[in-house]
Amino acid sequence: DPRNSAVEQPTTSAAEHAPTQPFVIGVAGGAASGKTPVCDLIIEQLHDQRVVLVNQDSFYYNLTAEELTKVHEYNFDHPDAFDTEQLLRAMEKLKHGQAVDIPKYDFKSYKNDVFPARRVNPSDVIILEGILIFHDPRVRDLMSMKIFVDTDADVRLARRIRRDTVQKGRDINTVLDQYSKFVKPAFDDFILPTKKYADVIIPRGGDNHVAIDLIVQHIRTKLGQHDLCKIYPNLYVIHSTFQI
Ligand code: C5P
Repeated sequence: DPRNSAVEQPTTSAAEHAPTQPFVIGVAGGAASGKTPVCDLIIEQLHDQRVVLVNQDSFYYNLTAEELTKVHEYNFDHPDAFDTEQLLRAMEKLKHGQAVDIPKYDFKSYKNDVFPARRVNPSDVIILEGILIFHDPRVRDLMSMKIFVDTDADVRLARRIRRDTVQKGRDINTVLDQYSKFVKPAFDDFILPTKKYADVIIPRGGDNHVAIDLIVQHIRTKLGQHDLCKIYPNLYVIHSTFQI
């Protein structure tokens, strides 16, 4: 019976085509644009899935002793401030189902080895958040969905002043100097040009519940297709048998 032989000797099956790797979402945008609230809301709405958040900040290079003496001349908004090779290695491991230790960056000491690293287990969804995660094509290629959080510059600056003075204990003049010298030019030169890679642009960040609902719906659809292939790995064979 040709139908039986089709079932017994499948040349391909849905399992081979199935997206067995996690769904990777990139969330980019200027500093203090509202990336973190967007990620938190996505995670909250996907509470029944295994979701992990990886922040590009964790991959800031440690400053040398010399750089530390003139920290106000250091550009933390330039792509070279990040160890992208280490980020790529960590993401590759997670994509292939391996746990990975991710450093926790300390904004006060400018070091990534003050706090213990965080063990991140493989998950169904990985959210990668950071100002420059769309800059390197190899990092972009890891993503199934790219989101750019688009918030006005005055709102970002106001939030930054509040955050850096209150949470990081910095002086307001230092914050404003860093903004005009590095943050604003780097936004224009490196961050804004990556907006063109986004699949979705969210105005107003975490306040935009409609956008977040739509994004979560899309992720659920993609994960649903994935689950179906995991439960019925021979779905493709059954389907093709019926067509004979
Ligand atoms: O979390 P968020 O995306 O806001 O972090 C990025 C910002 O953190 C950058 O604009 C950079 O200037 C700032 N930063 C800093 N001090 C550091 C490291 C990063 O102000 N030591």
